[in-house]
Amino acid sequence: KKILFVASECVPFVKTGGLADVVGALPKYFDKEKYEVRVILPNYRFIPAKWKERMQFVTSFYMDMAWRSQYVGIMEMEYAGIHYYFIDNEYYFNGDKPYGYIHEDVEKFAFFSRAALSILPVVGYQPDIIHCHDWQTGLVPVYLKDSFHEGGFYSNMKSVMTIHNLKFQGVWNIPTVQDATGLDMSYFTADKLEAFGDANYLKGGIVYADRITTVSRTYAEEIKTPFFGEHLDGLMRARAGQLTGIVNGLDYDEWNPQTDEHIYKNYSVDNFRKEKVKNKLELQKELGLAQDKKAMMIGIVSRLTDQKGFDLIDCIMDEFCQDAVQIVVLGTGEERYENMFRHFAWKYGDKVAACIYYSNEMSHKIYAASDAFLMPSLFEPCGLSQLMSLRYGTLPIVRETGGLKDTVEPYNEYEETGTGFSFTNYNAHEMLGAIRYAEEIYYDRKRSWNKIAERAMKADFSWSHSAKEYEKLYDEM
Ligand code: ADP
Ligand code: GLC
Repeated sequence: KKILFVASECVPFVKTGGLADVVGALPKYFDKEKYEVRVILPNYRFIPAKWKERMQFVTSFYMDMAWRSQYVGIMEMEYAGIHYYFIDNEYYFNGDKPYGYIHEDVEKFAFFSRAALSILPVVGYQPDIIHCHDWQTGLVPVYLKDSFHEGGFYSNMKSVMTIHNLKFQGVWNIPTVQDATGLDMSYFTADKLEAFGDANYLKGGIVYADRITTVSRTYAEEIKTPFFGEHLDGLMRARAGQLTGIVNGLDYDEWNPQTDEHIYKNYSVDNFRKEKVKNKLELQKELGLAQDKKAMMIGIVSRLTDQKGFDLIDCIMDEFCQDAVQIVVLGTGEERYENMFRHFAWKYGDKVAACIYYSNEMSHKIYAASDAFLMPSLFEPCGLSQLMSLRYGTLPIVRETGGLKDTVEPYNEYEETGTGFSFTNYNAHEMLGAIRYAEEIYYDRKRSWNKIAERAMKADFSWSHSAKEYEKLYDEM
């Protein structure tokens, strides 16, 4: 079977969050005998030169779109056994980050979605299934059912729409979107692309895709309810028969404490009890924290947004900083959260370190150095950070929602089971209770702590299982 991924970000070329990790890893894990997977991405100007140099120019053409004729350049690259196409257009992909103002993004990704389909006959790739990711590619299933259908070339192609985050839907006013997409006015009704008076890209994808998936089983259930449904819960219920939750995996080649080149000291499940702590001592030095191998270090690596539960942290931070703990944060995002962490880093200088920037290398160091990892999300479609933590023997402390619930098994001291700690309600002191319980195990019952860490490191969240589930889905189609 031929599969085509269409996405707006992909490791190692461009990443703003977990979507890029998934699109970068999953294609590598399909059975190569049975599935050929290719990936289409935008050729953003800021993709590092080392990748640009490896791209080959294929050809270019002009594509009719709405009332304009648009330049479409095709670049290609073979990397880690996967064939990538990059769509070139200097007008749309000239910015210094993948996303910008929504009114520009809706036009940009309408172009990208249509161009992704248009290049297929040109490069001679006729996929059986087009797998789309998030709202940026929501129009692909729509265009696929539209004018393209008549050509014959496209008529047998099926589509899958994967929702990585239902919060982001690509919403803008109908006249502008109609103009930018060239779609007939008849598409903008409540059973198609329209929602609450506006045009909605993700809704289009969900309505027109043959199958819909999201990135954990619990989130697949949650989005059928008003709280998590982001106003599309009715549609999610209507399409429940075609909706599957498949939990994300982790690229175990990239995230491996035994071979990781970014961390100070490699370790494995056999020697982490002695070796892991060396990472903590070095990170304390690098970040100017008190150098103390006993101090419990709690890491946070995250986009700084509401989704991730920072309100809870804000609420208990002063109280929490009276404990014998250290907190290391790496993240960027909303200014109020950036400033909140800067404030606490200033106030509790030897206990709190705030790294308000983006750094893949620093993220690896934090996953390796910390004892625990805090992720009290309000909602979490899947979450990859807690999987990285588990892999590094860093115990996740999470709220029981979405993928966090599906991947972190709470510690049970009576049965000696579990891989982390969790709490149920979105409540700051309930969270603090869970953190303090973890502190107690860490300081007073170190043997149990190490046993939990061992189970965490042995838990298998490689892509192998989940890739099989996607294969099954493709086969059913
Ligand atoms: P989301 O996709 O909602 O942001 P995930 O947990 O699925 O959440 O994925 C987040 C990814 O982004 C992880 O790989 C995490 O390590 C990475 N990440 C987040 N913030 C930063 C940062 N400031 N620097 C480096 N990596 C980051
Ligand atoms: C989204 C979600 C996150 C998920 C990621 C990859 O960004 O917020 O929970 O892990 O997509 O699927």
